[in-house]
Amino acid sequence: MAEPIALVGGGAIGQLMAGLMAQQGIEVVIIGRPGCDCGVREHRLTTLEGDTFRHRVRHLTPEAMPPCRALLITTKAYQVQEAVTPLLPRLSSQTPIVLLHNGLGPQQALARRFPEHNWWAGTLTDGGLRQGQDAVTHTGLGQRFAGPLLRQDALPDALAAIGFELDARIELRLWHKLAVNALINPLTALHRCPNGELTRAEFLPTLTRLSEELAEVAASQGVSMEADEVLALGLKVARATAKNRSSMLTDVDAGRQTEIEAISGFVVALADKAGIEAPTHRDNLDRVKALQSR
Ligand code: PAF
Repeated sequence: MAEPIALVGGGAIGQLMAGLMAQQGIEVVIIGRPGCDCGVREHRLTTLEGDTFRHRVRHLTPEAMPPCRALLITTKAYQVQEAVTPLLPRLSSQTPIVLLHNGLGPQQALARRFPEHNWWAGTLTDGGLRQGQDAVTHTGLGQRFAGPLLRQDALPDALAAIGFELDARIELRLWHKLAVNALINPLTALHRCPNGELTRAEFLPTLTRLSEELAEVAASQGVSMEADEVLALGLKVARATAKNRSSMLTDVDAGRQTEIEAISGFVVALADKAGIEAPTHRDNLDRVKALQSR
């Protein structure tokens, strides 16, 4: 029997991945925290067509992780390093480790620290809504891309089976996703508004400054993104997801830590390193951190 896919992070995207793979007959095991409740649980995926798909998932502690054909990480950006590091000794150096979180920083940090492993990063634009502990609704069909960070490699078959495409320049795509998140997430959290509100004229000067600063920081890293391209992308996603509450707004509302460090914090840290001013991103970083510590 084929080895299972191991998945860390049981939020909406993790559960969506598990459900989509189960539909393709691929076994997924979910790895929880040390000491978590283990056992087989029934999960429910409500598909885009509104059908209910039930499947059984083994939940295991990190110490019980079996040999797997790929490890998928769908935690928040700030949880990735702590979640993945203890699992590394249980993985072969060939096993793809696919990081699917928002933001940038942990991907490069892990790949630099453990270059013997087969690191991948990915991004997807699907919508998923978690409904209880083991249930998720697929709310929007998106595009799914993944690419290796250190090696040339073929797309893991389990990702291909659920519609991921190989992107050999995944870092550029991650920069585009970062740009979208850096424009939309902090402002929606600070103004407590759905994404679509940001297309109002009053936000245009701030979005323009964020785009200009981001393009300058990207250029300092050898990544070519024009400011008007960044702005157009941010506005396009804000329009396409007009009714969504961003993940950062949802986190702030729930009193949870946000991914601000891997989004605005990443931009500010690179700006500091390159001696560039990024005052609008810094302002967002400081204000969202202040919101979190309340
Ligand atoms: O983090 C999010 O909420 C999403 O990445 C996005 C694209 C901003 C849509 O809400």
